[in-house]
Amino acid sequence: MLLDQIKNYKKKTPTSAKIFAKSSKLHINGVSHNIRYFEPHPFVVKSSLGKNLVDVDNNKYTDYWMGHWSLILGHGQKNVKESIKKQIEKSWMYGTVNEQTIKLSELISKAVPVAEKIRYVTSGTEATMYAVRLARSVTGKKIIAKIDGGWHGYTSDLLKSVNWPFKESESSGIVNDEKIISIPYNDLENSLKILKKYSKNLAGVIIEPVLGGGGCIPATKEYLKGIQEFVHKNKSLFILDEIVTGFRFRYGCLYPTMKLDPDIVTLGKITGGGMAIGIICGKKEIMNYADTTEKKKSERSYIGGGTFSANPVSMTSGYTTLNYLKIRKTVYDKINSLGDYARKELEKVFDGKVAVSGKGSLFMTHFLEEGVTEIQNSADVAKCNSEKLQKYHFKMISEDGIFFLPGKLGAISNSHSKEDIKKIIKASENF
Ligand SMILES: Cc1ncc(COP(=O)(O)O)c(C=O)c1O
Repeated sequence: MLLDQIKNYKKKTPTSAKIFAKSSKLHINGVSHNIRYFEPHPFVVKSSLGKNLVDVDNNKYTDYWMGHWSLILGHGQKNVKESIKKQIEKSWMYGTVNEQTIKLSELISKAVPVAEKIRYVTSGTEATMYAVRLARSVTGKKIIAKIDGGWHGYTSDLLKSVNWPFKESESSGIVNDEKIISIPYNDLENSLKILKKYSKNLAGVIIEPVLGGGGCIPATKEYLKGIQEFVHKNKSLFILDEIVTGFRFRYGCLYPTMKLDPDIVTLGKITGGGMAIGIICGKKEIMNYADTTEKKKSERSYIGGGTFSANPVSMTSGYTTLNYLKIRKTVYDKINSLGDYARKELEKVFDGKVAVSGKGSLFMTHFLEEGVTEIQNSADVAKCNSEKLQKYHFKMISEDGIFFLPGKLGAISNSHSKEDIKKIIKASENF
């Protein structure tokens, strides 16, 4: 069956194949982000609008990758597009203070209570890298704990214990990785056992409230509360990475719904409305460690900035996107309920052979193997049949015009409808 699908895919993507061959000569793995490659070759996109991607052979795909899950309003959304156009008419790069940044920050600081002070960068990777540095500066301690399977971008600090069995180094070229320790997600008892061993030198713990790249798994409230309590008792910092979850399920972050009290929050993706962004924000007394007018060089943390930080185009597209969501909070009712529908119906179709994890508009199908009945952490994900998941996603690309980046979670945007979810269900029945 898979061979037929590969044949079919090759037949419908000849121009993509040609262009990708050229790309492979010029770029490592032919891509600029390793996860964007899939066999036999990724299709090459020429345009996108609403829920659709169109490739260079004119194949149309209903997209659930949605720009690394950043496009909550869909591709090319009208208001966002118009505001970017207007900004570009004025200019696209100042490299100086601009009012667009202030407008976006006013929205964020109202929606995210912990964001008493904000700093912009141009990627989530930078945001988490600086969050770690800041935590070390504030506490004067060195160790950072992350989650087995947690993905915070390619920062040298946090590129550890990402892939099962979480023991092997993820990359050569990384030094001082003994300063990063790893704890099992949603397993408070064993996490605390590990944290206790390092408590004296623990600068902070960084956690995604819904594990994104690690398998689309919500953390339990008890787990996050328990970790937070330990961290605060030991004068360490609680860092929530809401780069995926910020403004994804509600207008704001996920943490207030669990009555959590993080010290630093990182944001990205949706907050840039599809333009490059990363945000480090947090309580004033913590963020002030980065204040060069207040702190001596020996105390301060140099964080943030970069040539393109707070550029007016990212600030404008972020502002327009958040403002749209603020005015029309019903977007969340719609996409969250489509996610609920997808999870429920997909589990029905596969008749107990899969678990569909996620929350709100994020969902991911896991083909269960013996010994796994539910998905609570990345170790459970690793025990599932990932080959089957790749085949399932590839079948939809090849035959159904539906695009999930193979092996990754799907994100529903405001441009999707119930009909689209029904198409996934039909494709799943055929699979
Ligand atoms: C939770 C989380 N943190 C950080 C990052 C890194 O963000 P970026 O790819 O913008 O560098 C990602 C990217 O997917 C992410 O999912």
